[in-house]
Formats: sequence, structure tokens, C-alpha cells
Amino acid sequence: MLIAPSLLSCDFSRFGDEIAKMDKAGADFMHLDVMDGHFVPNITFGAPIIKWVRKYSQKPFDVHLMISDPLRYIDDFADAGADIITFHVECDSNIQETIDKIKSRGIKPGLVIKPNTPAEAVFPYLKDLYMVLVMTVEPGFGGQSFMADMLPKVVKLREQADKLALADFLIEADGGIGEQNIKLLSDAGVDVCVAGTSVFKAEDPAEAINAMKKKCE
Ligand code: DX5
Ligand code: ZN
Repeated sequence: MLIAPSLLSCDFSRFGDEIAKMDKAGADFMHLDVMDGHFVPNITFGAPIIKWVRKYSQKPFDVHLMISDPLRYIDDFADAGADIITFHVECDSNIQETIDKIKSRGIKPGLVIKPNTPAEAVFPYLKDLYMVLVMTVEPGFGGQSFMADMLPKVVKLREQADKLALADFLIEADGGIGEQNIKLLSDAGVDVCVAGTSVFKAEDPAEAINAMKKKCE
């Protein structure tokens, strides 16, 4: 299991150091939650901030766009140093155009589905994607409770990916994940777990990441 700490739970006055700390703690990806106050009822940070903190880790930057019109900003996040860009299938941009734009910048594209969106919504795009992110909470805030009823969507996605013989296709899950439930996600077929609260509130983040990985062995 790969672990992507969500920086949403970090101390933003020390953003760069927090990234360096997660790097040291064994994070596989840095998960960066971009919110526009329109697609979700919260505002976080944008491409300029990501550009400033990019140098604090060489690990892949996994940028989760919770914004209404991602297509308009792909160049900005590409220039900022994103390695993976995921955006919501529920957004207002043209989905295929946005995937193509991300790929044209040499970045790995992913689609995200909210809790009320079925797995099938991303099936038409699957062959073009590096990743599908299944939200296990309503997007917008950290610290919410994990929705176990999202697991069947993971199973469906894995089945479909296998049917299409997709190589190197990843399923990511995001929201309310920690040592207590990560095994369920692993068993369902998740490859990458985002973890905000469970890593940042831990006394020792390295131990928290390690414990989560161990549960999945
Ligand atoms: C929620 C974000 C998540 C969030 C996860 O909209 O996409 O990445 O920060 O935080 P926890 O692990 O606390 O649920
Ligand atoms: Zn996220």
C-alpha cells in the first residue's frame, strides 16, 4: 500500500517543513488538496504555493483539484511541479479535453468521484487514466468519518481495469483513513491511501505510516 499524506492537516505557517517531514516519515506521494470555495465549500491554496514548496521533497506531488473549472488551471499546476493531477468527474470542464491537456504537459491524469457518483461515471475514460480517486468522505474538509459503503466502487473499478487489462493503473482512496480501516481498503483493491488527520495528529508520523503499511501486508 502506498501512503499519500494530505497536507490539508499540516501547519501552513511551516508548509515546506511539513512536506520535508512527511518525506522523511516515508510518504510515497505528497497529496495536495486544492479547493476553490465554489466546487467545495472551503478554500485552501493554489499553484503559486505549490511552486514554493515543490523543492522540499522529490516525491511525486499528487494534486487533487476540487475546483469547478480545472481545465483553465492545468498549465499553472504543471508549471508549479505537479506529477499527478486528479480532478472531479463532476466538474464543469470538458473531461476528455482536461485529461488530454494534463497528458500534453507530461503529467499523470486521474479522475475523482464523490460519494454520490457511481464508479461507472469514469469507465469511458479509464484507458486514458493513471489513477482513479474514490472519495470516502464528501470532499471539502479533513477529519471526517470514513464511508465504508464506498468500497464496492473500488471493487467495480478494479474489475473494470482488469477487464481492460490496464497496466500500471492505480486506485486511490481519500478521507477518514487510518490504521483502523486501511486493511478494508487494501482488500477491496486500493493501491494508494490518502491520510490527513491520522498522520498529522500522530505523535510520530513515520510510525503512523509504517503501521498503516503493516496492516496491509
Ligand atoms: C478532503 C480531502 C482529503 C482530506 C483527508 O476533501 O480531499 O484529502 O484532507 O483528510 P482526512 O484523512 O483527515 O480525512
Ligand atoms: Zn484529497
